[in-house]
Amino acid sequence: MTRRSISRRGFFAGVGLTGATAVITSCGSDSEAAGSMASDKNGTSPQADSAGLATEDTKIAFDGEHQAGIQTAPQTHALLVAYNVRKEQRSAKGLQRIMRIWTGDARNLAQGHTPLADLESELAMAPRNLTITVGWSPRLISDAKLSDKLPGWIENNRDGLPKFKGDQLTEDFSDGDLVLQICGDDLTAVSHAARVLTRGCRDFVTPKWSQRGFIDSPTGETPRNLLGFKDGTAIPRSKEEYDDAVWDELGGSAMVVRRVVYDMPEWEALDRSSREVVFGRSIETGAPLGGTEEFDEVDLNAVNEQGLPMIDPHSHVGLTAGEGTHMRRRAYNWDGEVTALGSTGLIFICFQDDPDTAFTPLQKRLAEGDRLNQWVTHVGSAVFWCPAGTPEGGYWGQDVLEG
Ligand code: HEM
Repeated sequence: MTRRSISRRGFFAGVGLTGATAVITSCGSDSEAAGSMASDKNGTSPQADSAGLATEDTKIAFDGEHQAGIQTAPQTHALLVAYNVRKEQRSAKGLQRIMRIWTGDARNLAQGHTPLADLESELAMAPRNLTITVGWSPRLISDAKLSDKLPGWIENNRDGLPKFKGDQLTEDFSDGDLVLQICGDDLTAVSHAARVLTRGCRDFVTPKWSQRGFIDSPTGETPRNLLGFKDGTAIPRSKEEYDDAVWDELGGSAMVVRRVVYDMPEWEALDRSSREVVFGRSIETGAPLGGTEEFDEVDLNAVNEQGLPMIDPHSHVGLTAGEGTHMRRRAYNWDGEVTALGSTGLIFICFQDDPDTAFTPLQKRLAEGDRLNQWVTHVGSAVFWCPAGTPEGGYWGQDVLEG
């Protein structure tokens, strides 16, 4: 039997008794794994790590009306992994198989339980706010003949989002059939989760791209991007705003991922107040120019003593003002090896009920007129439909795949 052809159950038969017993005790069978794990509610239970230090083992409920990782306050780390689905699995049945396995593993990982066939259970014990969010691409949905059951934007974007002015997209960060957004406050737990999930479906999917992101440690303050600005001020906050703009009629959401590269040397040639003009907000406080506090309303009519607008109409906020509550932005910083050019940027992630009315028209406007374009380039683009959340024991997309 080749390594590739070992099934999850076959893998069990092959592991030593101690390992197998440990895994079986904590997980049961494949289908049970997707079905039987009780979901702990959000809560903290201080534990002691091996050095005797108290660590906070915080868990975010996995099951719920909507998937975790969308409304959830951004954790410190994000790892996005996109996969292509093998030809023979591009059907509702194939997708069902993958979703069953991934849901079981993701539910276990989020709750600090050992996933099926995981021999490194220590790495799963402290999830530290781990969330795992899945998305399906329009092309996969279409190939699996599921478009009729799902929101109309999916068929309109069968070949991905439209191309925008200035895009310099590379396949290295674009498209993919499935995505897993894995976020958490502990990088080891995030990395382990990615490994478990990738291994769990290796017979059905192959990784296409991955992107690692980070933000500053949660302090309750809006995190800053690597250009120095608070990023994530104007977002939906209330249940009404989420119902109105983020969740579709099935309880799902459309996820847009754009990888943006910053031109740091050019950006750093600007003085601080010029940088503020580019965004239309204060670096220090995050307040809209003309205001004093971060959450002051953006007033595009405010003028200075010379009668000039306080917020340049072509600044980033000049062009996006009022759109903040129409999408849930959840951006992460990225950086790579340090080079003279500075390899940093943003993984822009946003969730909305319909990208045809939220992301796409806004990005068109930005691509054509945003002052910021001089210092940023979009190099990756992907769009996915994220199914609704799971009831206890259910699996991702079950209603759609079995209905
Ligand atoms: C290119 C990299 C980008 C950077 C560095 C960036 C940064 C920022 C910053 C600093 C703010 C102000 C603070 C806030 O409300 O969060 C902001 C606001 C906003 N951005 Fe971006 N952004 C980028 C790309 C995008 C893209 C691609 C879109 C969507 C097409 C977008 C949509 C928005 C929206 C809707 C707001 C809130 C506007 C409001 O209602 O006040 N941004 N962005």
